[in-house]
Order: sequence, then structure tokens, then C-alpha cells
Amino acid sequence: MVKAKIAPSLLSGDFAHLAEECERMLGLGADYLHMDVMDGHFVPNLTLGAPIIKSLRKHTTGFLDCHLMVSHPEQWVDDFADAGADLFCFHYEATKDPKALIQRIHNKGMKAGMAVKPNTPIDVVYPFAEELDQVLVMTVEPGFGGQAFMPECMDKVRDLRARFSQLDIEVDGGLAPDNIEIAAKAGANVIVAGSSIFKAKSPGDVISLFRKTIDE
Ligand code: DX5
Ligand code: ZN
Repeated sequence: MVKAKIAPSLLSGDFAHLAEECERMLGLGADYLHMDVMDGHFVPNLTLGAPIIKSLRKHTTGFLDCHLMVSHPEQWVDDFADAGADLFCFHYEATKDPKALIQRIHNKGMKAGMAVKPNTPIDVVYPFAEELDQVLVMTVEPGFGGQAFMPECMDKVRDLRARFSQLDIEVDGGLAPDNIEIAAKAGANVIVAGSSIFKAKSPGDVISLFRKTIDE
């Protein structure tokens, strides 16, 4: 069975203290550090790029799960690899040749992830699933933290899990204690959460609850 991996989204953290926020999350039991890269083109918001990942790499050994919500992701593979990213996740909707991109990401020594937006059917992933290290099923429209979880996206997770029992399936957007069970039942095992972790009174308890729900 695939194990739970909890990935706090640093988008909800304090960007002026990113390194400390990363260490805080790892200390509370996080497995991955989810870094949301937005270009103001693929999504209507701007966040961070490879230079920040590079600076952060000097301060943490944590797994940097980079989610690129950008047009032309091919353009950034070398920069993110050189910066020390562990996983490069691109959007299916943003590339013409996923196979070549996955190859390039692997050649550069990173793990490869592919993300799909809520309206993109999941079967687009199937031809590439064997080569991918992770598939990200978005549970909100990408671009902003703090949106409501879309339960209808769980059909895609169920479908994917039925076909690929060992695949890391990540869900991202609106995940919280009140819907983690739905995501777990559908077969998701990598849980991204920004607001529900960072705004909690006890973020460590939220991380533990997510893990327990996925693993039991
Ligand atoms: C949204 C990002 C998410 C976001 C999640 O486009 O990909 O990673 O930070 O934030 P919450 O958990 O607040 O929905
Ligand atoms: Zn994300």
C-alpha cells in the first residue's frame, strides 16, 4: 500500500521567513515542502521561481515538491534542477510533449510529476503514468490558496488508483480535516494543504490527523 506523505503548501506561510517556515513544518512531521510556482500567465497570480528554491536549498534538506503552474514548463527544467528541486511537477495543460518533458526532468535527476486541472479528464495521464513519480489531481482551480475543495474531483482519483495501485497520487486545494476522509477513501496518498495547516491552532495535529486518516 502507498504510504501517506503530507505536503504543507508554503504559499500559506510567511514568505519573509520561508526557511524557518520549512523547518517548522518538517519539525511538525511534514514529509514534503510543497512550493507553488506561478507565472501570472498560466494562472492569474505570481509567486516564486528557481532563485528562491536555490536560496532555500541552502537552509533545508527537506523534499522540495515544486508545483509549476506556468506556461512552457520546459523552459525551467534546468534552472529548477540546478536550484536543487527534488520533484518537478508540470501541468498537462501547459505542455505539448509530456513524454519528452518527463524524460528531461529525469535526466536532470529530479522526480517527475504531472498535474491536471479540475476540468481535465484523468485519462490524459494514463499513457504517462508508468513513467511518472507522482500525479497531482487538482481539487481547486490553480492560482490561489484558501479555495473550497471540489469533491467531484475524487472520481478522477478513484479511477487513477484503480489502475495504478503503487502510484503516488497527490491532491491539492482545499484539503482540510473535514474532507480528508473523502480524499483518503478515493485513494489519494500525498496531501497538499496550505490554509488548513498554517491557519490551524495546532498545525502538528492537522498533519498527524491527515497521516492517520490516509494510513489506517
Ligand atoms: C493552488 C495551489 C495550492 C494552494 C493550496 O493553486 O496549487 O498548493 O497553496 O492551498 P489551500 O490548501 O489553502 O487550498
Ligand atoms: Zn500546489
